[in-house]
Amino acid sequence: MSTGHPSAGTLAGLVVLVVALLTVLLAACSSSDGATTTTVRLTGAAAAGQETVRDLGCTTCHTVDGSDGVGPTFQGLAGSKVRLEGGRTVTADETYLRRSIEDPSAQVVDGFRPIMPERDLTDAQVSSIVAYLQAIGQRR
Ligand code: HEC
Repeated sequence: MSTGHPSAGTLAGLVVLVVALLTVLLAACSSSDGATTTTVRLTGAAAAGQETVRDLGCTTCHTVDGSDGVGPTFQGLAGSKVRLEGGRTVTADETYLRRSIEDPSAQVVDGFRPIMPERDLTDAQVSSIVAYLQAIGQRR
């Protein structure tokens, strides 16, 4: 009478399949570990700023991978030349960055709509965000 248990052959097949899957998964994990070594590790104020930017939802509009979203990318922004609406070009120094964050409509980047929301941020929050932007900005 059949008990409904899978035969020994089926079980052995399953074990082979599981082992094969695990091997593939482990290989995938170790290769992505290798990729993280190229990521910049941030410390201090820059790390706090990275968290603030994430918490405040800035990254819904700003990427850090170099591609523009709703707003310009944060990657390489600090220290770069920014063309503003109206044709003026400014350097994204600390003063510019602070102002862009505290009073977004004061200087609008050319080619973007002035839709960035104004937030009530503390000086410390703005400073840490600027430190973060400088950490992922132009290499000097
Ligand atoms: C709803 C989308 C949106 C959100 C959310 C947003 N921004 Fe923006 N941001 C923009 C747009 C669009 C621009 C470009 C137009 C302008 O200059 O206002 C911009 C411009 C900037 C600039 C100047 C960029 C440059 O290339 O010169 C900085 C710095 C900046 N944002 C920081 C922030 C920070 C920090 C936060 C979170 C507190 C934030 N943004 C949240 C849309 C957004």
